[in-house]
Amino acid sequence: MKNKLLITGGAGFIGSHVVRLFVNKYPETNIVNLDALTYAGNLANISDIAEAPNYRFIKGDITDGAFINRLFQEENFDGVIHLAAESHVDRSISDPLSFIMTNVVGTANLLNAARDIWKNNMEGKLFYHVSTDEVYGSLHRPEDFFLETTPYDPQSPYSASKAGSDHLVRAYHNTYKMPVVISNCSNNYGPNQFPEKLLPLMINNILKGKPLPVYGKGENVRDWLFVVDHARAIDMVYHQGKNGETYNIGGFNEWKNIDIVHLLCRVMDRKMGQAEGSAAGLIAYVTDRAGHDLRYAIDANKIMKELGWEPSLQFEEGLEKTIDWYLANQKWMDEITSGAYQQYYDSQYSER
Ligand code: NAD
Ligand code: TYD
Repeated sequence: MKNKLLITGGAGFIGSHVVRLFVNKYPETNIVNLDALTYAGNLANISDIAEAPNYRFIKGDITDGAFINRLFQEENFDGVIHLAAESHVDRSISDPLSFIMTNVVGTANLLNAARDIWKNNMEGKLFYHVSTDEVYGSLHRPEDFFLETTPYDPQSPYSASKAGSDHLVRAYHNTYKMPVVISNCSNNYGPNQFPEKLLPLMINNILKGKPLPVYGKGENVRDWLFVVDHARAIDMVYHQGKNGETYNIGGFNEWKNIDIVHLLCRVMDRKMGQAEGSAAGLIAYVTDRAGHDLRYAIDANKIMKELGWEPSLQFEEGLEKTIDWYLANQKWMDEITSGAYQQYYDSQYSER
């Protein structure tokens, strides 16, 4: 029975949903949330569980190897769920080195510290790396899907850094017999997602009457999964996943960017009580992302068959819930988009 769990990146989008689920569902497990609180980390995302007796927050940076070693020696974790990362492809294009540092070096620091405290007895320990489907590259034929056996072919600095960290996790399993699991998930959406990602960016811009920047022709395809369903999958992989295995997680829910933006615009018009077509009038086609992957699509049959996971929400229902959350939490949005982020956004947008 694992009872001292480290979750990294728990103040971010997906991490906050994972921390909430684990803190509430496993009162016997002591959970430490380690997060550097970068621009993407926000303690407001998990304020509801901040006082829970089985929960503790530690501010710290996974790129600081000496700090990570000390933390593992002091805390003696027997499980790790590692989500902390630089996560946005556009930022990885303008600042690749931060991605190498956090995603590759940071993951290596965690693996090394875990190996040091677990090396005499790996029994009952587990290092779980939460990764992305982007490591598999870009699909070009409609009949193709990413399987767990699909060779890695990352195309962006972000996906290359995540592929690097996945390889390190497998290397520690193979070389040091560290118990590990990896999951590779498709695009998440839902409450608390930082508004640099497609859906919250569009919601925020519609609310503010700003242009909706669609990259290229909007033909790129992504598979969308509600974040709470990803958190449920992470729970299952952590508790039931087989040592050394990989699980793909996805929503069987592919959308072309332009179609999802139009759907979002229609729902926003209805929710904001404005004439149909108002939000879509803000769509602006802008210069394409460099090296833009055409299509991601996950075959999630393994986790469905072996662990019994399946998505709980239809996409339209998840989208309504997400929009309702952003409408009810405009203060959250205003706080995180003020100041430095706004300057960053304006500078990126003016370059397109
Ligand atoms: P996010 O950017 O919202 O959150 C990342 C969190 O990591 C933030 O709280 C940030 O403060 C923290 N962090 C960043 N650098 C750190 C460092 N050096 N030390 C400690 N903490 C640091 O990301 P997210 O969208 O929640 O993604 C979480 C994980 O899931 C990532 O590993 C990502 O690769 C993976 N993933 C994301 C998606 C998606 O659609 N968002 C899909 C599949 C997999
Ligand atoms: P994003 O949310 O950044 O996720 P990822 O690049 O990891 O899939 O982008 C989703 C898709 O939307 C991707 O094809 C790029 C596109 N996109 C836009 O067209 N405009 C935008 O402003 C953003 C942020 C993304």
